[in-house]
Amino acid sequence: TDLSGHWHYIVDPLKTGIVRADSTRYSVFRDKPGPERPVDFFEYNFDAAPRMSIPGDWNGQDLSLTWYDGLVWFRRHVDLDGPPDGRLLLHFGAVNYKAHVYINGEKVGEHEGGFTPFAFDVTDLLKVGRNSLVVGADSEHVNQSVPTPVVDWKNFGGITRPVHLVRVPDTYIHDYFVRLDSGRIVADVSLDGERVNGQKVRVEIPGLDLVLEGKSDLSGEVAIEAAAPQELALWSPESPTLYDVIVKAGDDNVADRIGFRTLAVRDGKILLNGEPVFLRGISLHEETLGAIPSRAINSTRARALLSIVKNDLNGNFVRLAHYPHAETMTRAADEMGLLVWSEIPVYWDIDFSNQDTLALAKQMQHENILRDRNRASIAMWSVANETPQTDVRLAFLKELIDDARRLDGSRLVTAALHNVRSEGGARIVDDPLGQLIDVVAVNTYQGWYGGMSLDRVPSVEWQNPTGKPFMFSEFGAGALYGFRDPEKEKFSEDFQVAYYEATIEMAKKAPDFAGASPWILKDFLSPRRMNWRYQEYWNRKGLISPEGHKKAAFYVLRDWYDEIELQGAKK
Ligand code: GCU
Repeated sequence: TDLSGHWHYIVDPLKTGIVRADSTRYSVFRDKPGPERPVDFFEYNFDAAPRMSIPGDWNGQDLSLTWYDGLVWFRRHVDLDGPPDGRLLLHFGAVNYKAHVYINGEKVGEHEGGFTPFAFDVTDLLKVGRNSLVVGADSEHVNQSVPTPVVDWKNFGGITRPVHLVRVPDTYIHDYFVRLDSGRIVADVSLDGERVNGQKVRVEIPGLDLVLEGKSDLSGEVAIEAAAPQELALWSPESPTLYDVIVKAGDDNVADRIGFRTLAVRDGKILLNGEPVFLRGISLHEETLGAIPSRAINSTRARALLSIVKNDLNGNFVRLAHYPHAETMTRAADEMGLLVWSEIPVYWDIDFSNQDTLALAKQMQHENILRDRNRASIAMWSVANETPQTDVRLAFLKELIDDARRLDGSRLVTAALHNVRSEGGARIVDDPLGQLIDVVAVNTYQGWYGGMSLDRVPSVEWQNPTGKPFMFSEFGAGALYGFRDPEKEKFSEDFQVAYYEATIEMAKKAPDFAGASPWILKDFLSPRRMNWRYQEYWNRKGLISPEGHKKAAFYVLRDWYDEIELQGAKK
């Protein structure tokens, strides 16, 4: 059951509903409809409160909350027309940043992390008839958070992805991972619930006339595999073939659509299905098109953005920065044929020496990889963006990299670096993190940040001593759509064109150059961009305006990608 809709909300700037949870007057989550006795009264009343669309951030729906960073309580009713035959799971796509969940005034649980799914078994809390579901969404970040409060994007708060009530049998399929590995279709399935041991598990792929069968062990796990049939059509951006996959165990069955392909790095190249691939990409934040962007992405909104990359830019790759985007986005990439860089928000100055922060980053990565490891489009997991080159950071990220490889050995691991050493005009990428990742990616802004003039950018030499595939995970320059200036003043479209031409010329000389995801497809909101004439709280490095108008530099990148595709075809 999809619980999307118009939920009542109460803004709670002092978090009174939490700090005074003991008091009936202030404990908002109890959702009392009104005074139980004439002498009682309550300092809140959901029934009289306004409503907003969920999923959706509050910033763009209630303009008094444009800059609000704190706790908002949401309430909707959930009606059960009979006792559930099985378990009832309450599933959230994401809540930014902390979620406090209650049913009929009882605490269900909490979750921290603004961009990954979580669920609670609420079978014993829901009653037949009307139930009160109250969610406290707290968008506040602190220095121990992941990320910290200091980021270059708008901190959209709220229940930003769909909420579902999921009914499953008493014994149900908790997780499955089905992929192509060394010529074999491999499936790991894990069960949860009451009788997980000794269950017959089937994985059916009708399009391949293939059935994998096994029996779950004491912990409800089973690994089954079979040789991949000759007629298997491999997934690729050019041919994004997806197969129906049905997983069955006991009374439960789950249907998915999965693409099969292989990824590897060898001799400085990224290999997709054994062939070198050049990543013709662009970076995206999770923001819809429009003058008042929303964090709530649905399939239509995802396709509106990705079709610009696929069709207009001739891209085959998107860097979904700087946090896991919505599942509907990675599913759209699967269907449309775009490779994906998936990232957790270990961004800038995280509290790398804090064990709780490390546990939180691991939890987020675990939630992200388990959600999306059946998505063929995802080529790499990124563990960080522009983090300081310290020993504690290296130890922190090594743990994340080890976890990623343990959870999913079928993909590449990367990170966006920026600690590049300059030596006599050369840029040397010798960040020790480069030894631990598969693709060495660098964010570089010569000609925009720093004093280098554009005419010197093409002569910059890059050295990548790792011998691994090398790419630019970011480069970009700001431009206000419609501001043309033959003098190429910064923030003019003409400057952005000159910047892209110079940077592309530099990229063409870089060793083992395997791709780029320039910063960024669309102008996006950021509290740090206060230049009143050109920014007005928008980061203007987009190649398209908030409404989707293409700036002149869009075509510079597109022409480069057309040229690369043509060269690739010639090889
Ligand atoms: C950094 C950072 C981005 C930021 C960009 C910019 O590289 O990774 O999140 O938006 O630079 O300065 O525009």
